[in-house]
Amino acid sequence: MVRVKFDSVSKDYGNVTVVDNSSFEVKDQEFFIILGPSGCGKTTTLNMIAGLEEPTSGNIYFDDQLVNTMAPEKRDVAMVFQTFALYPNLTVHDNIAFPLKLRKMKKELIEEKVAAVGVKLRITHLLEKKPYQLSGGERQRVALARAIVREPRLFLLDEPLSNIDAKLRVHMRAELIALQRELKITTIYVTHDQVEAMTMADRVMVMNHAKISQIGKPLEVFHKPANLFVAGFMGTPPMNFFNAELKNVNSHQVVANEFFTINVDKAMGDRISKSTTGGELIVGVRPQNMQQVTASGDAVFEGEVYAVEPLGIETQVDVKLGDSIYKFVGPAEYKSKMGDKIKVKIDTSNMHLFDRKSEIALI
Ligand SMILES: Nc1ncnc2c1ncn2[C@@H]1O[C@H](COP(=O)(O)OP(=O)(O)OP(=O)(O)O)[C@@H](O)[C@H]1O
Ligand SMILES: [Mg+2]
Repeated sequence: MVRVKFDSVSKDYGNVTVVDNSSFEVKDQEFFIILGPSGCGKTTTLNMIAGLEEPTSGNIYFDDQLVNTMAPEKRDVAMVFQTFALYPNLTVHDNIAFPLKLRKMKKELIEEKVAAVGVKLRITHLLEKKPYQLSGGERQRVALARAIVREPRLFLLDEPLSNIDAKLRVHMRAELIALQRELKITTIYVTHDQVEAMTMADRVMVMNHAKISQIGKPLEVFHKPANLFVAGFMGTPPMNFFNAELKNVNSHQVVANEFFTINVDKAMGDRISKSTTGGELIVGVRPQNMQQVTASGDAVFEGEVYAVEPLGIETQVDVKLGDSIYKFVGPAEYKSKMGDKIKVKIDTSNMHLFDRKSEIALI
């Protein structure tokens, strides 16, 4: 229904920049997720799209129209807030009808639309109830119904599932995706939950400290994180990080530290040395990409079992290496015990390398 474009948009509060030179484009009908930790500027970004805040500098476009100063009600946007508030004294029916009454829509048409959206969100049986008589998930559906009933061209959702229990949240995720596909409304969805981003987004924009860290399809961002922050933020348990250096050993290049040595072929060695500032690296490995082995060798380190967490289908093992703890995922029937000396191999085909100074991904 509409494209949204940010062109070098910044937002300052006093002398603090909370959105810093943000440029991105949300495609028509896209399910676009803004992901990042608390305080990184997600809600502020959404508020500027809704027209609740004006950018300090830069331009915001809906399709080709500049909307920087356009009033919220002129934007044809519906927003569901972090704490979605329903009117407590109104029935579900009247809550949903409210935005239509504001627009002075004819009564028959209002009834038609409320009924239709009630069916779509499966809340027909709740229409005569008051909000306090509803469960969290039901209230959430009513808030969504109220937002979509006037068929906006853009749908803005700010952590709409954060107040719902875990099981219902999984269900609501699926419902939201189905609803968005059906309505074909461009949707911008804010969350700090990387699982939501992975499962729901067409594309995800990761933010950190007011800046965009990376934009891409969820699996792209997961498999090719652009920097250390994204690498650590996406995936559970989080990625392990080891300090290491690029060195020459017997005229071979290796990535090594006091615990392990990883042979790299010439092409990769050249690539690393070209893009790194001082040869100081960080090796990133997901817990799923390390496994216990019996033999020493390339990319193997020796550590001590620090904790064993059997989870049924797998075992998460903490291993102590020097002063640091690393995690790997072992089989369900994991045998070693706390205090055992073990060998762990890094799957180098799935490792990530970052420049330690810039924190930017090198491979
Ligand atoms: N009206 C305001 N005046 C001053 N500072 C503000 C204002 N609104 C937000 N901030 C600050 O801007 C930063 C970004 O806030 P924002 O609400 O956009 O974060 P967020 O990413 O949505 O975080 P959360 O996940 O906790 O909701 C925060 O440091 C916040 O304290
Ligand atoms: Mg927020």
